[in-house]
Amino acid sequence: MCGIVAYVGHREAAPLVLKGLKRLEYRGYDSSGIALLNGDGLKVYKKKGKVADLEGILHDKVLHATVGIGHTRWATHGEPNDVNAHPHQSNGHRLAIIHNGIIENYNTIKQSLINKGYTFQSQTDTEVLVNFIEEIQKSKNCGTPEAVRIALQEVVGAYAIVVMDAENPDQLVAARKGSPLVIGIGENEYFFASDATPIIEYTKDVVYLDDLEVAVVNKDGLNITNLENVKKDPFIQKVELELEAIEKGGFDHFMLKEIFEQPKSIADCLRGRLLPEEALIQLGGIHNNLSKLAKAKRIVFVACGTSWHAGLVGEYLFEELARINVEVEYASEFRYRNPIIKEGDFIIAISQSGETADTMAALELAKSKGAIILGVCNVVGSSISRITDEGVYTHAGPEIGVASTKAFTAQVTVLTLMALATAKAKGTITDDVFRRIIFELDAIPAKVAEILKKSEEIKDISKLFTFAQNFIFLGRGLNFPVALEGALKLKEISYIHAEGYPAAEMKHGPIALIDEDMPVVFIATKDSSYEKVVSNIQEVKARKGRVIAIVSEGDVDVKKMVDFAIEIPNTHEILQPLLTAIPLQLLSYYIAVLRGRNVDQPRNLAKSVTVE
Ligand code: F6R
Repeated sequence: MCGIVAYVGHREAAPLVLKGLKRLEYRGYDSSGIALLNGDGLKVYKKKGKVADLEGILHDKVLHATVGIGHTRWATHGEPNDVNAHPHQSNGHRLAIIHNGIIENYNTIKQSLINKGYTFQSQTDTEVLVNFIEEIQKSKNCGTPEAVRIALQEVVGAYAIVVMDAENPDQLVAARKGSPLVIGIGENEYFFASDATPIIEYTKDVVYLDDLEVAVVNKDGLNITNLENVKKDPFIQKVELELEAIEKGGFDHFMLKEIFEQPKSIADCLRGRLLPEEALIQLGGIHNNLSKLAKAKRIVFVACGTSWHAGLVGEYLFEELARINVEVEYASEFRYRNPIIKEGDFIIAISQSGETADTMAALELAKSKGAIILGVCNVVGSSISRITDEGVYTHAGPEIGVASTKAFTAQVTVLTLMALATAKAKGTITDDVFRRIIFELDAIPAKVAEILKKSEEIKDISKLFTFAQNFIFLGRGLNFPVALEGALKLKEISYIHAEGYPAAEMKHGPIALIDEDMPVVFIATKDSSYEKVVSNIQEVKARKGRVIAIVSEGDVDVKKMVDFAIEIPNTHEILQPLLTAIPLQLLSYYIAVLRGRNVDQPRNLAKSVTVE
């Protein structure tokens, strides 16, 4: 939710910051801007639209500067337009700021600044913050770092900020609370960004700033303190991220690349953890808590969106294999409900980004009530992975397409491993069944690769549904969450209204929607509810609905009944979501492309939702 980039050093700042903004565009893309500082003073350029639109207004400008800050926005306060875009300048034109987050008490601060004669161009909370810092600087006669520290002690809300000071051209001041900020350390140069992707081209040495820390870089180097100015030692880490992982690699879209990466991302997720020959699962990340997890009376998954759907799959897995009572909560609801948490309860957060504000807040609440908190995150070093007691990374690699694909299958893979390991520790699974499932799990990457070979076939089916206005997705058991996920994928990237339901629920209401114009996607693979799903298909066909079915290889019966059937390889029933999700991702992708949508950056969305 908003991407920020800043640079100070010896390179040309403008191209570096603009390139960084393009890498972070997945975080927000309704407007962008850049501020540069050179001998002619502080210059700010802003534009509604994509970073490419910003570049469009820069081509005839002299942009020479070795210090610069940039921002790509997902609007919270104030509509997306040129004025509300960041960076924002202070009234005295000394300071410029970029900000990711929300200043909740900005109205009170704004009023006190208006009383002192300040004026505001934009409707943003960020313009209030930069003027607040300037006012403190003037009234206390202090430098920018001190003014930032004092201002942030008064601020309620979330922020990752970088402040540029026209009177100190080789200095940048940054701070964070609740929104991510990474500092890259080069040779006499420093980089700031919302994640490491704009930085890794120049340096692999980074510091992840912690909440309530302020970083100052200038000719003396990097200095980190807390808000009370107590010095902290920076913990410098190496990022293990290669440039190829964040580029499209010949695919038309990141989403398609990420769909096709799934044989590898699932294999990466299993590597070193699944040892079929030894009939073993090793999860170093939850080593200290596995025996407690096996004794847990209750597990609560907290998550949002696609990650919540992965949690629903996890519910089936843990209940079926480990016989533990599981609840799956929308993180945003959980935290506002005074939930009952008893000793020994496990709260497990599932989050691709590891930065989702609602999930983070739910975890903080659970922690304050004494729960053991675990994380299933993709982004290494993310806020959620840092506050949890232990956790298992999904290792899916960077997911840049806003619609989640490979992160979902990696989350389901991790939850499968966790449920199996817990069941083994608890003794609720026989050696035979355990062995059978882990051999099948080992074969999943190759089976996903088989399904991907059907992409042209799925594209052809998509062509016939490009102009549909609605869609229904139906599945039962473990495939019910996959139906929800299929509907979410379609609506977020194609803007077609879509609903996911447990197949049996159809007759309790949604069946009224079925007519010859209603496409219905059934997940009708051979499993314990197959016969029932077949009856549901007949009910839809009897009402002239158009049916696309995901079926098990060799299933001729369903094929005869439906309009289109997409065959997928057979696997153990509990592993089916790892396969059934794939054709639904491809179906959504192709329908959205055929409708001319921007699938990587769908309207109104952002990859990492760091506002509550
Ligand atoms: C949908 C999607 C979102 C995210 C949700 C949670 O394709 O990507 O629904 O799943 O915003 O994000 P994370 O997993 O980063 O917490």
